[in-house]
Amino acid sequence: MKNTTKNILIFDTTLRDGEQSPGASLTVNEKVMIAEQLAKLGVDIIEAGFPVASSGDFEAVKKIARTIEGPVICGLARAVDADIDCCWEAVKYAKRPRIHTFIATSDIHRDEKLRKSKEEVIASAVRAVKRAKGYCDDVEFSPEDAGRTSLEYMCDVVRAVIAAGATTINIPDTVGYTEPEEFAHRIRTLFEKVPEARDIVVSVHCHNDLGNAVANSLAAVKQGATQVECCINGIGERAGNASLEEIVMNLKTRRDFFEADTRINTRELFKTSRLVSNLTGLEIARNKAIVGRNAFAHEAGIHQHGVLQSKATYEIMNAEEVGWAGDTIVIGKHSGKHAVTALLEEEGYLLNEEQTNFVTEKVKELADKNKTVERDDVLAIAMDVIGQLPDQEKRIRLEGFTVVTGSGMTPTASVKLLIDGTERIGTGVGDGPIDALSKAVWSLIDPSVKLLEYNLKAITGGTDALADVSIKLQDAGGRIFSGRAVNEDVIKAGVQAIISGLNRAMNASGGK
Ligand code: KIV
Ligand code: ZN
Repeated sequence: MKNTTKNILIFDTTLRDGEQSPGASLTVNEKVMIAEQLAKLGVDIIEAGFPVASSGDFEAVKKIARTIEGPVICGLARAVDADIDCCWEAVKYAKRPRIHTFIATSDIHRDEKLRKSKEEVIASAVRAVKRAKGYCDDVEFSPEDAGRTSLEYMCDVVRAVIAAGATTINIPDTVGYTEPEEFAHRIRTLFEKVPEARDIVVSVHCHNDLGNAVANSLAAVKQGATQVECCINGIGERAGNASLEEIVMNLKTRRDFFEADTRINTRELFKTSRLVSNLTGLEIARNKAIVGRNAFAHEAGIHQHGVLQSKATYEIMNAEEVGWAGDTIVIGKHSGKHAVTALLEEEGYLLNEEQTNFVTEKVKELADKNKTVERDDVLAIAMDVIGQLPDQEKRIRLEGFTVVTGSGMTPTASVKLLIDGTERIGTGVGDGPIDALSKAVWSLIDPSVKLLEYNLKAITGGTDALADVSIKLQDAGGRIFSGRAVNEDVIKAGVQAIISGLNRAMNASGGK
C-alpha cells in the first residue's frame, strides 16, 4: 500500500506565547525544566522566549540554547535591528538556532499601532529577514494579525520575505477571529498566489478567542501547511493558543483523514501537561480533551458496561497512548526515595538529587507526625521546592514574624525581613492575621506593587492538612508575578508565598 503520510512539524511556543498567559510567569530554571520535557516529548522546534523583552527572557533562551539537545531552539524578535541582534545573542548557542521575526500587516494594526504604509511594512519585513539571515540560515517570518489582513496584501508580504530568504512563513490568526473554512481558504490561496511557498515551510499559529484554534490549525494542515504552532494545555495570550496535545492526537487518531503525522512521543503528553500546569499554576479543566483527569473516565453505567465488553465501544484513543496510566504509586508512611521519585516522574517532575532528597525528607517528617501523606501532598511539596528561587535571586528573606489575634481584638503583626542584606522591621494591623502580616510586609516594600489574588488551599486531610498558598502581584507596569508556598502553618505559608512573589517582581524590575 502506498504510504502518503506527510510529517507535520510541531513548533511549541509554551515558553513564549504560553508564558504570556496572565499570571503564568516562570523562572529561568522552571523554563529549562519545561524545555527538557519538551525535548523528551519530541517537539521539532521550541520557541524559548522573546529575548529582548526582559533580562529573564534573554537568560532563559540562552540557557535553553546552551543545554537542550534535539529540537531547533527559536527566539522571537520584532522586525527591528535591536530585537534581531539581541535574539541572535541568545539563540546562537544552540546546535540549530532559529530567529523568528514578525511585523503586523492588517490595516488596523498598520494604521493604529505602527502608523506605517503597506510599502513601509514590506520594507521593514524584508530588512528584518535579511538582517536575521546575516546571522543564521533558519529564519521564520510572521505577518502578525494575518487573519485580518487582506489576502492580496498578505500574499505580497509573503512573496517579498521569501525572496529575502525566509525559510518558514507563519500565518498567525493573532486575535482568533477566523472560522475554519475561512482560514483554510486563506492557506489555499497563499499556495495558489505564491507558488514559491511550496518550497519552504508554511506554518500556522492560531489563537483561541472563539474556541477555533485547533480546528483552524487542522483546517490549514488539510490545505498543505506543514508546521503548527501550539502550546501545552492550550495556554497563551487571552484564551490561549492551539493546544499541542489536541493537534497531535487529532493527527494521530485521524491519520486516515489527515494523511499526516508528527514525531511526538504521545506517551509523554500527560506528564508534560501536568508539569506545565504545575509550574505555571494554570489548572487543567477535568473535562479538557486528551489530558483532563476525566478524559478517559466513564461514569454512566451504560458506558462502563460497554467499555468492559470492548474498549472500542466508547474510547477512540486509549489512556496509555497519551501516558495516563492512572495513579500507580501510592505514598505511605514507609515510602522512601524510590517511591517519591517514581511518583514525581509519573507527574512529569524532573527534580535533581538534592531536591528529591528534600521532598523525601519532608514526606517522612509529615508521616512521622502521624499525618496522612497523599499524592497531592507530595506534589505540593515538590512544587514548593521547584518554585524556590536560587539564593542569589532571593533579595527579600523572611527572618521572623509575630501575629497577635483573638476574639474581640484587632489582629496586629510585625515582620522582620532582610532586604538586599539590610535588616528591616515592619508592623501592620488588619482584618485578619494574614491581612495584618501583609500590611507589615508592605510597610517595607515598594507600595506600587499590589496584591491581586490570594488563594489558600488545604491539600488533604483535616485540621493537620498542608496549606498551599498561591498569590498574584501586579507591578506599576502592569506585569503580573506569582508566588507560592506550602507549609503546615497556614500563616507561614501565606507570608512565604507573598515574599516569593515579591522576589520575582524585584528581580524583574531590577530595582526596588
Ligand atoms: O499571535 C501572534 O501573532 C504571535 C506572533 C508573534 C507570531 O504570537
Ligand atoms: Zn500568538
